[in-house]
Amino acid sequence: MSNTLTIALSKGRILEDTLPLLASAGIEPLEDPGSSRKLVLDTTQDGVHIVILRATDVPTYVQYGAADVGVAGKDVLMEHGGEDLYEPLDLKIACCRLMVAGKPGSNHGHGALRVATKFVNITRRYFAEQGRQVETVKLYGSMELAPLAGLSDLIVDLVDTGNTLKANGLEPLEHIADISSRLIVNRASMKMKHRRIKALIDSLAAAVEDK
Ligand code: ATP
Ligand code: PRP
Repeated sequence: MSNTLTIALSKGRILEDTLPLLASAGIEPLEDPGSSRKLVLDTTQDGVHIVILRATDVPTYVQYGAADVGVAGKDVLMEHGGEDLYEPLDLKIACCRLMVAGKPGSNHGHGALRVATKFVNITRRYFAEQGRQVETVKLYGSMELAPLAGLSDLIVDLVDTGNTLKANGLEPLEHIADISSRLIVNRASMKMKHRRIKALIDSLAAAVEDK
């Protein structure tokens, strides 16, 4: 239906940081997404709905058109591949860095290093581009534990203040990318719902500038 607009968001930081931007664009959920168990929320704008997903599922929903637009971290987009998605706006929220980390000096070992991460595609690409041979181990969280437990030599993870690394005796060793959250748009929706989506992009861009 070209009259409706579905916006995909994930709980946590992205939801918290995106809601004020959407509010500036005149879109507010009718229920508190923090406490509601509902996964589809109506908003103050007719026909505009917010769906609540896992962060890593947001690009998939938008790619297949199950959501028209979404907000996803650049890390998630790089890992997903970002095929068939427009990425028209940097929302400049949830800013951090994607880094290689480990015990001091541990990026210079002999032979193939083992790297634990939830970003296996990014990690393989990063080390392959440098001609460095690594073995990747897929994890789903608490990456900082892996070198301590002897599971890996290195990790690839997000770093903001650096407190989590420090608290676990690790340090940032190599910078892979600066990360922030992006507005993503389904290609077909961009054509079919152009007026509505263009208006959303423009008001979000203004809200980002005003921050
Ligand atoms: P899930 O629990 O569903 O796997 P997640 O734990 O990655 O998702 P969040 O922690 O809310 O979800 O992170 C969402 C996005 O926020 C990340 O994809 C990243 O872009 C950004 N982010 C993650 N950690 C930080 C941080 N410490 N500081 C700032 N931004 C961050
Ligand atoms: C993220 C990331 C690091 C931490 C870095 O985890 O995976 O562990 O933040 O932030 P810092 O440099 O400021 O310490 P998050 O807090 O999102 O926990 P989660 O991945 O378990 O959700």
